[in-house]
Amino acid sequence: MCGIVGYVGDKQALEVVVSGLRRLEYRGYDSAGVAVIADGRLDVRKKAGKLVNLETLLGADPLAESTTGIGHTRWATHGGPTDTNAHPHVSEDGTVAVIHNGIIENFAELREQLTADGVHLASDTDTEVVAHLLARTLPQAAGNLTEAMRLVCRELQGAFTLVAIMTEDPDLVVGARRNSPLVVGVGEGENFLASDVAAFVEHTRNALELGQDQIVTLTKDAVSIIDFDGHRVEPSPYSVDWDASAAEKGGYDLFMLKEIAEQPKAVADALRGRIGRDGRLQLDEMRLDDAALRSITKVIVVACGTASHAGMVAKYAVEHWTRIPVEVELASEFRYRDPIVGPSTLVIAISQSGETMDTLMALRHAAEQGAPTLAICNTVGSTIPREADAVLYTYAGPEIAVASTKAFLTQIIAAYLVGLYLAQVRGTMFADEIGRIMAELNDMPQKVDLVLDTVEPVRAIARELAGCSSVLFIGRHVGYPVALEGALKLKELAYMHAEGFAAGELKHGPIALIEEGVPVVVIVPSPRGRALLHDKLLSAIQEVRARGARIIAVAEEGDERITPFTDHVIRVPIVPTLMQPLVSTVPLQVFACEMATAKGHDVDQPRNLAKSVTVE
Ligand code: M6R
Repeated sequence: MCGIVGYVGDKQALEVVVSGLRRLEYRGYDSAGVAVIADGRLDVRKKAGKLVNLETLLGADPLAESTTGIGHTRWATHGGPTDTNAHPHVSEDGTVAVIHNGIIENFAELREQLTADGVHLASDTDTEVVAHLLARTLPQAAGNLTEAMRLVCRELQGAFTLVAIMTEDPDLVVGARRNSPLVVGVGEGENFLASDVAAFVEHTRNALELGQDQIVTLTKDAVSIIDFDGHRVEPSPYSVDWDASAAEKGGYDLFMLKEIAEQPKAVADALRGRIGRDGRLQLDEMRLDDAALRSITKVIVVACGTASHAGMVAKYAVEHWTRIPVEVELASEFRYRDPIVGPSTLVIAISQSGETMDTLMALRHAAEQGAPTLAICNTVGSTIPREADAVLYTYAGPEIAVASTKAFLTQIIAAYLVGLYLAQVRGTMFADEIGRIMAELNDMPQKVDLVLDTVEPVRAIARELAGCSSVLFIGRHVGYPVALEGALKLKELAYMHAEGFAAGELKHGPIALIEEGVPVVVIVPSPRGRALLHDKLLSAIQEVRARGARIIAVAEEGDERITPFTDHVIRVPIVPTLMQPLVSTVPLQVFACEMATAKGHDVDQPRNLAKSVTVE
């Protein structure tokens, strides 16, 4: 949530900052703003709405030339998305400008104190208090912005990334981080700060991780880090393993379309190098030793949104392979219910961004209870994998569209790998069984490719149904989380009522929603793998059809028994039952994308949402 960029170097700061914001806009797009220092004063422009509004403003009213600047793209928390509430915020004396991601929880109290001291606050934001506090603390910090930032941060509660510049030292950018993402890009004669490496990867692939409660000071030639107690911190450098083109549309109209199309490669990359020379599964980044994994008696998956659906899919496989009970819990609920967690509970946090605050807090809670923790994550160097005991990266490459696609498929793959690894370590499967499933997984890039080759008719169905007010999704077994995922995609992109149900639950209430013409998307299990479930789903189709539903079935090639009872059949290749989510989800992604397009919505940046949810 919120994209942050800071720059100091020899280039025109405005160009660097705005191009960084373009790459970070997926993090928030309610408003945007920039500030530079020129001729001893701050020059600021900010505008409500998408970045393009700010760019138009800058075209009409150019900013002064400068080689130091900051920029922000906002997802509103405190105060509506107006010009005034857009960041940067400037201190009353006009000397300090600040941008912020997160929530300052004690802002009301701080605001009250400032007002009592006669400070006029221009906006409704929590961020503005920091600008005033920094300016008022500078004299006590002997004019040193880093020290002022340190002193102010110690007064703040909540989650924040802050980046500030000041007129007195125009070649300096100072950032601070608690519970919200911030990374440093190290260039030659220039340095960067950003919420995400995407902002600076076109300039440098050398990055530094910032830890919790740390302050970073950038000049064009130096980067130094201290903690909130003032102690010097040695930076942890890493290299970004993708280039700027990976975060561009590459000829597609939408990032979502590109990311859907990238799924065969993403799945292949998630599987690459997992089998050692001895033929055994090896997960190099798993920093948990085998003895610890053998003592596990329960697995809890914590995740949000799409990532939680990946966890639900994995539950079926991991329990089957390991005979360890697996619970899947929404991360936002986990720590508030006094969960039963201890040293023999493996807590797996699944997160594309690695920054989702609910998931991070759930992970921390689990760690506090003594549980070993494992992150399944796509973003190298992000907070969740850094704080977990072990990590399995999904290697899907940057996912920019707000709606998650390739991350979902690769999260399932990674969770399956963890399940197989547990089975290997605990001896609940023979090596040849693991080998057979790995072979099935290795077939999946080609199967997903086949789905993409045949998905065109889905677009026509989506356009035909775009006028409907509601779409229901039903499935059973691993088809149930797929139904939830299909419904989530439609809600977030097409802004329409969409619900996913376990098909067996229909008769317990949801069937009352069926009326003439309501589309019901049915994820049909294989008649070979799960014959009984196939029969039961056929019955569910009959029941909703008898009440007027229009049936859109996602069914495997050759399943002709369903054909007479459907209005449309979307065919997917024949794959083993546990692999079905990897093929049956793809048409649902296309369905939601096409329906949103037909309705004229912004697919990559749906309303009210942001890619990375860094507030609780
Ligand atoms: O970055 P994360 O995987 O932790 O994000 C979790 C959810 O916010 C995310 O999956 C969200 O539900 C997607 N926008 C759905 O498409």
